[in-house]
Amino acid sequence: MSSRAEPRPPPLLICPRCRRLEGDALQLATVVLEVPFTTGGSQPGPPGGWPALPECETASCDGCSAVYPVVDGVLVLVPAPAGLLRGDGLSHFVTVGPAALALLHGSTDSDPLVRHLEWRSIWGQAHWGDRVQLIDGEGTLDAPFGFEAFVPWLRSLPLAEHTVDLGCGFGRAAVELPAHEVVALDLAFDALRMARSLSAGEAVRLAVRQHGRHYRWATVAGRAAPHVRWICADILDPPLVPESFDRVVSLNTLDSVSDPSVAVSVIQRLCAPGGEVIVGSPFAWQSHLTPDDERPEGDPVAWLLACFGEGWTVLETREIPWWLPRDGRSSLTYRSFVLRARKG
Ligand SMILES: C[S@@+](CC[C@H](N)C(=O)[O-])C[C@H]1O[C@@H](n2cnc3c(N)ncnc32)[C@H](O)[C@@H]1O
Ligand SMILES: [Zn+2]
Repeated sequence: MSSRAEPRPPPLLICPRCRRLEGDALQLATVVLEVPFTTGGSQPGPPGGWPALPECETASCDGCSAVYPVVDGVLVLVPAPAGLLRGDGLSHFVTVGPAALALLHGSTDSDPLVRHLEWRSIWGQAHWGDRVQLIDGEGTLDAPFGFEAFVPWLRSLPLAEHTVDLGCGFGRAAVELPAHEVVALDLAFDALRMARSLSAGEAVRLAVRQHGRHYRWATVAGRAAPHVRWICADILDPPLVPESFDRVVSLNTLDSVSDPSVAVSVIQRLCAPGGEVIVGSPFAWQSHLTPDDERPEGDPVAWLLACFGEGWTVLETREIPWWLPRDGRSSLTYRSFVLRARKG
């Protein structure tokens, strides 16, 4: 994995708007990050390397001239970035502090803001519970750290060169994976925004659900990881070049997508020959996420290997427990099947 003498250049980013099949060949145009001039305007980043995302404001396609925004250090690389960000407008309310909680008065459990705060509290604690500290008054938070069992295992993996984390969510795995560079992809902009701030070493405010619509304010301590690039993109159609990563990771995401077999084909395609994939899932299907006829039957590891096709070597299988803290008194527990396998 990390034994190669010459480091490969960072993986290229592909325009999701203009790629097309011509005959059997896939035509891909590259997206180039641009660093703003201090006096206005912008220039392409250094050739063969990526500038740090927070230093960029846009990226543009050298094929169709589409321009993609970098918002709060997250590159939004979907065909219609404005639509995606509009759909995620609520995320701006949840970091404003107590004012966000004032908005809960007179709301109901099904209000979008209430649901967004709940989702952020659950996943923020699941990924970062060991770094959460209450800031509003007395008492300590009994923050269940859902990723407790994942973190030591991730840290123990051998060093990789280029890793991609597909469906990274709030980003804990992406910052823990040993790698020279990590590309972390998700469609949930607010999760990426929080992960990006934490990976810049910044503390982030988190409203932690106590019960019902009662929250307390906490901060999550940052965990510097400048080698992680946060990209808002669709993992079923990722803006990445096939075979450009020596480690492809996807944890607890297969049962969150509409078509898990497409996700598995993406995972195996992005992996370079000699590289490895790490796929883990509790396979806890839910109808509103994955239709019944898209769910695999039987043994998950056998299904994954059958999807990968010939020429894979199993390095490790294991089960990892984790949990989602719903509020101060209840949580949902899961156990993920994890497969680590080498291509070729
Ligand atoms: C259950 S969470 C798992 C997050 C993290 N990997 C973990 O293990 O905790 C599933 C993640 O997949 C993301 N997701 C679902 N469908 C996606 C898609 N088509 N493209 C990108 N991300 C997607 C969700 O936004 C969510 O963050
Ligand atoms: Zn393009």
